[in-house]
Amino acid sequence: MRKAASTWLVVWSAACGAPTTPDPADDTDEVVVPSGDSDADPCDDYTWETVGEPFVLTWCAACHSAEVKGAQRQGAPASVHFDTEAEAVALAGELGFVAARDAPTMPPSGGPDAATRARFATWVGCVSAR
Ligand code: HEC
Repeated sequence: MRKAASTWLVVWSAACGAPTTPDPADDTDEVVVPSGDSDADPCDDYTWETVGEPFVLTWCAACHSAEVKGAQRQGAPASVHFDTEAEAVALAGELGFVAARDAPTMPPSGGPDAATRARFATWVGCVSAR
């Protein structure tokens, strides 16, 4: 009995001491808390929740949400929707191009002020750099 227990302990401690290679896939949902302000990632202030989602909900979803059908889309292509962070990130380059460059074409009329578009452009830059 004692022998079995100590054998187990050796195996256990060897496993714990083994060098581990971080798996990048593990990082996706992890909130990394910076140890000090100087280490803070500026992109922490430009997240889907704080910048991306409010922008597309306010300025794009009326025509582009997958929930919006037929004539209510006002001509927005059925295939172009970005309701979730994953969908928006996948289209980020295109969204930035139509909504956050110097002469934006989306939304087709009106739209956010330059500062709001600039914040969205920063979000696009952050997710594109991931
Ligand atoms: C009033 C309805 C309406 C709103 C609001 C709107 N769109 Fe559109 N969107 C359209 C229409 C119509 C088209 C297709 C015609 C075109 O490409 O100009 C389109 C096309 C697009 C395309 C495809 C462009 C291409 O060239 O294939 C993207 C990307 C897009 N919109 C993004 C956005 C974003 C981002 C917003 C919010 C900032 C937005 N749209 C807001 C109506 C809208």
